[in-house]
Amino acid sequence: MEALNISKGKVFIDATFGQGGHSEEIKSLGGIVLGIEIDPDQVKKYNGNITIINGSFADLEKIAKENITLPIDGVLFDFGLSMVQLKEGNRGFSYRSQDDPLDMRMSNRGQTVAEYLHSTDGESLLEDIMKYSEDVYSQKIVDNILRFRSSNKFEKVSDLLKVLDEAMPYSDLRDRQKTYARVFQALRMVINNELGAITKGLTGAIKIVKSGGRIVIITFHSIEDRLVKKFARDHKAQINYIRNSVSSSRKLFKFERSATLRVFTKL
Ligand SMILES: C[S@@+](CC[C@H](N)C(=O)[O-])C[C@H]1O[C@@H](n2cnc3c(N)ncnc32)[C@H](O)[C@@H]1O
Repeated sequence: MEALNISKGKVFIDATFGQGGHSEEIKSLGGIVLGIEIDPDQVKKYNGNITIINGSFADLEKIAKENITLPIDGVLFDFGLSMVQLKEGNRGFSYRSQDDPLDMRMSNRGQTVAEYLHSTDGESLLEDIMKYSEDVYSQKIVDNILRFRSSNKFEKVSDLLKVLDEAMPYSDLRDRQKTYARVFQALRMVINNELGAITKGLTGAIKIVKSGGRIVIITFHSIEDRLVKKFARDHKAQINYIRNSVSSSRKLFKFERSATLRVFTKL
């Protein structure tokens, strides 16, 4: 909130509305907020009075032009998924939800993970899984996916876990869980084209924020964070990097500890 430099009457877009925690806070500090949220289920659950557009921040500039007077004072991005989606999404976001369908679409539109695992050629599967999971077992995992799909159908989270377990028969549970988490995250990123959306969203933010306004970004893993850093380097004539730390008066939750906050001012 401090990074957004909020004061009464300033206008912000919360590009990852989620359950509206950040948006409500902006509002309570006197700011005016428009939310964007890709997941229709998240939008339906919200029962406050902030306006939310059900769409992707990849279309940030278009959504902003259609809904708000430009330029605005700041944009907030809080990438990834919310805990509610992970725990109650029923879309296979978490490897812990073994009976969930292998879906992972945040927008409920487009190709599911199950469809992707069946329709993608081995070379592209390897490229995606290696690039987005950075897991040492990537090659074995892809070999096993190809073997599994030749006579079985991917339907549930448990189908994918079986294939992953077979790729690392000698690993203990803790190591296996690290690979599960990396591969699930990788597939989610591919299915939702998350990195493409981030680049488009940040490009849009630069266009709609006024000089001196803020672009505040919270990333949860190194692949996202590297992309943000590269984007900032490539646009250093338009944005100035002012901060990259989170300070908190309370002890952080485990899931918060991997977060990185990056703050930019529009020049
Ligand atoms: C970490 S949560 C944000 C939580 C939120 N800051 C709050 O206070 O409740 C990330 C949210 O961004 C949404 N999201 C992910 N990709 C998106 C995209 N391309 N466009 C819009 N929303 C997106 C997810 O569905 C999720 O609800």
